[in-house]
Amino acid sequence: MPLPDSAYRQFTPDLRLCSLLNGLWQVSGAHGSIQAETAVQNMFDYHDAGFTTWDLADHYGPAEDFIGAFRRELAARNGAAALDTMQAFTKWVPRPGRMTRPIVEAAVDVSLRRMDVATLDLLQFHWWDYRDLGYLDALTYLAQLRDAGKIRHLALTNFDTTRLQRITVQGVRVVSNQVQYSIIDRRPEVTMAAFCQGHGISLLTYGTVCGGLLSEKYLGQPEPSRAALDTASLRKYKNMIDAWGGWTLFQELLAVLKNVADKHHASVATVATRYILDKPAVAGVIVGARLGLSDHRADNARVFNLALDEDDLRRIHTVTAQANDLFRIIGDCGDEYHH
Ligand SMILES: NC(=O)c1ccc[n+]([C@@H]2O[C@H](COP(=O)([O-])OP(=O)(O)OC[C@H]3O[C@@H](n4cnc5c(N)ncnc54)[C@H](OP(=O)(O)O)[C@@H]3O)[C@@H](O)[C@H]2O)c1
Repeated sequence: MPLPDSAYRQFTPDLRLCSLLNGLWQVSGAHGSIQAETAVQNMFDYHDAGFTTWDLADHYGPAEDFIGAFRRELAARNGAAALDTMQAFTKWVPRPGRMTRPIVEAAVDVSLRRMDVATLDLLQFHWWDYRDLGYLDALTYLAQLRDAGKIRHLALTNFDTTRLQRITVQGVRVVSNQVQYSIIDRRPEVTMAAFCQGHGISLLTYGTVCGGLLSEKYLGQPEPSRAALDTASLRKYKNMIDAWGGWTLFQELLAVLKNVADKHHASVATVATRYILDKPAVAGVIVGARLGLSDHRADNARVFNLALDEDDLRRIHTVTAQANDLFRIIGDCGDEYHH
């Protein structure tokens, strides 16, 4: 493995992950046009560089099919045992409606088929409307499917602390919750992280580099128009920056991050990633991969040789202390997706 040992973490007793996961929302079509053949070949570049863990979802366009194609080719090239060197974490994001065992099982079967696996490594469940308690039914059936061997570990995405607590009290065992977490959006620190730590639940994070806004590319730049933001990811996190404190304060933050990065011979994006990787309860940071369109592997690999010190954190917090309280404005983790 070309990445240092410190890149890998024991996620569950039976599953090790690369703590910088490759995110596949970027192949959904909303982040530039992706060519399937090139994309699957490009997945080998990530895997061979040591980035062996993938985050995806049933609704990220061809993402689950890419995992299936990648796995078939990996086995053909290196033998079936090579399949154990990768992990693929998918999601189920059902449309609101009644949850029955056949409905839940049919959805899991589709992912199994598309990803060409006998067992899903991790199934992360999303729910749109907390007023509909059907999520508790869905999770009960998912837990049964886990116990039957179709899912290795059950997890959540975008659940708030109140519902996570409810699910835990109900006796449904989940190993992680995937949430937005970055230097800009630190809502998980209010209640989520402590609850997770207390219950052996990990956080997987997204939005940590804000679609690329947390990079040198935007340092010293005028505020981009909406039209200039050419991926769904950039538009999503630009909204977050607007709510957080706006472009002028963001430029102050970028300047400090650049300073910290220069001190460590690192980049703004890796400082932003390291900052979150060091947080309690965080098992991994997901960074989107626009397969065949852009490539930040060499830079991102340096995050594992980067150690932020007290002075770095103090300087970052001098800027973030001036920002608005996103927990007060938006609510807990995932509340931007709920009514
Ligand atoms: N559960 C959920 O609701 C949810 C929501 C959103 C995302 N996610 C997950 O998280 C993943 C990440 O998505 P995201 O929207 O949060 O995007 P992101 O990871 O914040 O941004 C990805 C973009 O950042 C840029 N980038 C990455 N490394 C860089 C580096 N070292 N230097 C400079 N720029 C760098 C690249 O932009 P360029 O390609 O333009 O160079 C890349 O396409 C998704 O694929 C998905 O798996 C989950």
